[in-house]
Amino acid sequence: MKSLADQTDHAALRKGAHDDRARQDFAFTFRNLVTSEWMPSTRTVFDKRAAAAFARDTGAAPETPRDIRKAMDGDSWYRFYLSARRTSQELIWESVVPAVEADLPTGGAGANLDASVVPPRYMSAIDIHCMPGGYAEDQGDGDLAAGAVYDRGVYLYMSGLMGPRNDAVGALAAAYLKAQFPAFAPARILDMGCGVGHATLPYCDAYPEAEVHGCDVGPALVRYADERARSWGKAATFHQRDAEATGFPDRNFDLVTSHILFHETSTRALGAILAESYRLLAPGGMAVHVDQPRFDGADAWATFLQENETYYNNEPFWRKYRSINLHAAAVAAGFAADDVTLDILTADVVAQSQNNVKLSPEAAAKRRAGFSILIARRP
Ligand SMILES: C[S@@+](CC[C@H](N)C(=O)[O-])C[C@H]1O[C@@H](n2cnc3c(N)ncnc32)[C@H](O)[C@@H]1O
Repeated sequence: MKSLADQTDHAALRKGAHDDRARQDFAFTFRNLVTSEWMPSTRTVFDKRAAAAFARDTGAAPETPRDIRKAMDGDSWYRFYLSARRTSQELIWESVVPAVEADLPTGGAGANLDASVVPPRYMSAIDIHCMPGGYAEDQGDGDLAAGAVYDRGVYLYMSGLMGPRNDAVGALAAAYLKAQFPAFAPARILDMGCGVGHATLPYCDAYPEAEVHGCDVGPALVRYADERARSWGKAATFHQRDAEATGFPDRNFDLVTSHILFHETSTRALGAILAESYRLLAPGGMAVHVDQPRFDGADAWATFLQENETYYNNEPFWRKYRSINLHAAAVAAGFAADDVTLDILTADVVAQSQNNVKLSPEAAAKRRAGFSILIARRP
């Protein structure tokens, strides 16, 4: 297990005072216990009693994610596990929010704000993954609170597995691009739905000659992203803009990215963001969208587990996202079928944290646990 103390400091991060950190330590350790130790035991419960009970009641073995859910829903250990998991999620925010409120960070003077940007309903109608106030919470000038809550919350949520800068997804994607397309040298990069810039800054390192931009609808997130980047001496510019209609000129970027954005948008918005990516790309440019693992559709158990995010963790689109044909969506957005590729960014972080099973090296290789990556080129 990683250490709570390892998250890299910067001017806007608020880890809190002694008691805050003690509470965060509990939330961090408890979450790790629930996701790494108790989660695998749900499979044991399924194999040893819930599947047999389902077969007895229905005359058939549980095969689909829906069957598995029916088999598990009445199981006492599983219900206890679900309750503990939800509690672990709420404890993250309960331990992080007071630390931020006690010492509110301010700043973000370099961010480009636009008060006319309205957060889309699919993100304002609900506190996604139970984060109090959601992404668009804003107290006005210089407010960074939502960014500070998100930054520390993600570190706890991912048990530190995203690295001390919470940047594993962007770093993996940038490394993948460098390896697959060594001659590709984007001059202008836009990271859509950039949040606090976790995945944006790795592109500053991967392409030091490039102009790097990030956009998000949350004003406090982009201010925080600006403050965080400047604190580390990274040259990236953050904008309050909607990824569905950014307002940047046509063909303005050579690389348009997003990271873990798609599963938090509606199906309609996902298509609009792909169309916007196409519009923004200069000839020879690439759109690269990275998101949650999709696994093999035949893996009913993994699907069942993943769908719990929608059932119990305020992630309304997570379930639907997994069944969208991303290739077809990219083609519908304007890309030619032959210019669209789907791949997997293999990552231990996913095997450990998202799939919630401890895989042997052989099993991990077989499953190819990782983030899904969509690459769409504009000729
Ligand atoms: C799960 S967070 C990911 C943030 C960041 N990409 C990262 O990897 O840490 C999803 C982000 O997408 C943003 N978002 C959702 N819909 C958006 C839209 N239509 N335009 C811009 N940002 C959006 C949210 O505000 C949130 O910051």
